[in-house]
Amino acid sequence: MRVELLIFLFCLIALVSNKGLKLEFSWTRITYQWPRDGQYLKRQTKTESRYRGSGGGGRGSDVITFEGMTNANEFEVSTQGGRESREPPNNIDYQFVNNIPMGTNVWRNKLFVTVPRRRLGVPSTLNYVPLDSPQKQNVPLIPYPNWGINLYPGPRENFVSVYRVGVDPCDRLWFVDTGIIETPGNTTIVKPSEIIIIDLKTDRIVQRYSIPADQVTPTSNLASVVIDVTEDTCLNAYAYIPDLGGYGLIVYSLRDNRSWKVRHNYFYLEPLSGEFYIAGHHFQWNDGIFSVELTDLKKDGYRDMYFHSMAGTNMYKVSTKILRNETMATRSYHEDDFQLIGNRGPNSQTSSADLHKPTNIMFLGLVNENALGCVNMNLMTAGVVQKDDQRMIYPSDVKVVKDRVYVLTNTMPEFLYGRLNYDEVNFRVWQNTVQEAVEGTKCAHPRPSRPY
Ligand SMILES: *[C@@H]1O[C@H](CO)[C@@H](O)[C@H](O)[C@H]1NC(C)=O
Ligand SMILES: *[C@@H]1O[C@H](CO)[C@@H](O)[C@H](O)[C@H]1NC(C)=O
Ligand SMILES: *[C@@H]1O[C@H](CO)[C@@H](O)[C@H](O)[C@H]1NC(C)=O
Repeated sequence: MRVELLIFLFCLIALVSNKGLKLEFSWTRITYQWPRDGQYLKRQTKTESRYRGSGGGGRGSDVITFEGMTNANEFEVSTQGGRESREPPNNIDYQFVNNIPMGTNVWRNKLFVTVPRRRLGVPSTLNYVPLDSPQKQNVPLIPYPNWGINLYPGPRENFVSVYRVGVDPCDRLWFVDTGIIETPGNTTIVKPSEIIIIDLKTDRIVQRYSIPADQVTPTSNLASVVIDVTEDTCLNAYAYIPDLGGYGLIVYSLRDNRSWKVRHNYFYLEPLSGEFYIAGHHFQWNDGIFSVELTDLKKDGYRDMYFHSMAGTNMYKVSTKILRNETMATRSYHEDDFQLIGNRGPNSQTSSADLHKPTNIMFLGLVNENALGCVNMNLMTAGVVQKDDQRMIYPSDVKVVKDRVYVLTNTMPEFLYGRLNYDEVNFRVWQNTVQEAVEGTKCAHPRPSRPY
């Protein structure tokens, strides 16, 4: 059977009526809110499955808690915004040139910012800043849930390296700790990759799951996670974790505390689409399935999962009915379980993407265009929300939270292939409402024409 290939083309010329994005936070270099000496050795030694109290975390919470080395005392450090950050304590390895934020997400008043350990000198990998911080430039990151568990080297339960995080409707934060320090030429595998879930209301880790060795490869990179759950079915949650370097998809069932690996040719790089030209640097990348996006529940009670490779321009989908059933998900021949939706056209290579479920509008980090794109999956139209060759270099993460879209841009190709100027703004978090972001683009639903 011959299938007509649908081609989306992004119109890169912004219209006058285009509202685009608003700059929310910016950094020239990443700094942290340092603990007072001796107060950062907090250990959260065991996973608590019992949710405890209502603790910190809510809107307006401006206190984080450290337990002392002896476990005897609890210290409180005010994290009220606006204070000058002091020097890092002597025994924290901090090299600001190696701190490149990669992921963002929002829960209530917390804007999470992850800094994976791709070099030495990253003091804390999982962090946040208060969304309502009056300071918007160079806001110091606050380690989450505390300093102690983010330190490296540290106890085995410590977080090693986190790329992008998911937040679910049950107030939980999900992420993969890759367990790897990726210093070029000196990759250190500290521990197997772990799925970690934190109850955002209590700041407690409620689940840890090590991904079995036979589901990863030496080139695996588990850089994002999406959660399939409703607020009525919190215990029956599934996580979908694309493996961009191992060309697979890991599916994790929370109820069964078990995962399986899905393989399909559509997860690979597309050989003709691996060329990138960003910030004056030409390079070739081979990243496969990079991020996945879930639709709302359909009539059959399942969602569609959209996916794409970073080195690629096609978009695909598969039903979660297949993914959630281990037998179906891992069968060797998939018939037509996986489907091509269309091609986004040249130069549309996409890092992270997310879907606004109520409108079925997808937002995409168009890395080769220094832009945020959109695709209306109902109308099958595409547009550009904002493009900026200076200020939007490398949209590394895109998240839709309720009716708002957030984008993190981090100038990463300049870090990898050139030299960042740490006196200029390199890292930015942008946001706008979905409605305003698509206004004036082809993703907006056309207004009925005015009857004259
Ligand atoms: C290699 O990395 C480890 C930590 O990941 C570090 O302790 C060690 O000093 C590094 N070795 C070199 C030669 O840089
Ligand atoms: C889930 O599986 C992990 C294995 O990675 C195990 O350590 C943990 O105890 C399990 N958790 C529960 C609640 O069964
Ligand atoms: C999974 O799929 C298999 C094969 O189609 C089917 O026999 C089985 O009942 C399904 N399992 C569940 C839990 O739906």
